Amino acid sequence: MEKLKIAIQKSGRLNQDSIKILKDCGISIDNGKDQLKASARNFPMEIFYLRNGDIPQYLKDGVVDIAIIGENVLEEKGGNIAVAEKLGFSRCRVSLAIPRASAYNGIKDLAGKQIATSYPNTLNAYLSNKGVQADLHIINGSVEIAPNIGLADAICDIVSSGSTLFKNNLKEVEVMMNSEAVLAVSPRIKSNQNEILEDLIFRIKSVLAGRQSKYILMNAPNDKLDAIIKLLPGMRSPTVLPLAEEGWSSVHTVINKDKFWEVINELKLAGAEGILVCPIEKMVL
Ligand code: PRP
Repeated sequence: MEKLKIAIQKSGRLNQDSIKILKDCGISIDNGKDQLKASARNFPMEIFYLRNGDIPQYLKDGVVDIAIIGENVLEEKGGNIAVAEKLGFSRCRVSLAIPRASAYNGIKDLAGKQIATSYPNTLNAYLSNKGVQADLHIINGSVEIAPNIGLADAICDIVSSGSTLFKNNLKEVEVMMNSEAVLAVSPRIKSNQNEILEDLIFRIKSVLAGRQSKYILMNAPNDKLDAIIKLLPGMRSPTVLPLAEEGWSSVHTVINKDKFWEVINELKLAGAEGILVCPIEKMVL
């Protein structure tokens, strides 16, 4: 069977999480240091370690069938490449920022200004949509330094924690797009590759659903079971098993990991004891 070719970032912010999600899908690969290409040991897949900015072109040309890539890069260079799945990591924003001391009353303030960016297409589209004309300065790295060295009045780049902006005395004034890592699919993928892709997507969905959820167990006195169960927004109704001790039960359910912190106090107040929270490796929906 012809292998499915996947591109992942050779180095940079997506590299480790990309390898991790494949690993969590049961696909063993190595980290790509000092190599361009590798074969998965237990899945019909070949991995190409590529530079982030080159990946959209490889997808368009059909050199690779799929890729793990940031939406920000797809938007900038991808044209109409389909996204099969959002992967929930490497979240960032593509934003406009200006010196912290400058006043800002809206996007019109940037009319006629110089903006340094590695995202000219995204920025041009955004500005023309807002009816603003500016002078774009295209640079490939260290964009945030541009205002400090007199190269630009503003910058447009990705912001994640915001610490690069902070260090460079800049403030974020417009969020142009929100981005996360996605599984992108080449428009030239061959139909006989689709079966492997479907298998991969199934595995990814199970991993992502598991990451979103926690398995929780607790002990509850039987006379408080109804109140406790009402607090649990689980998959279906929880499993309730009798404990060896008369009048007590063990309650098991799956809960969204964020919801858990919202209900923990209420569960305790309602009489739940010995609450255990366990990670879920995979959840088949
Ligand atoms: C990006 C971007 C910013 C920084 C923002 O660079 O260009 O400099 O991250 O992140 P922060 O808000 O968490 O500080 P990255 O480290 O991805 O490397 P790059 O320069 O190769 O783009």
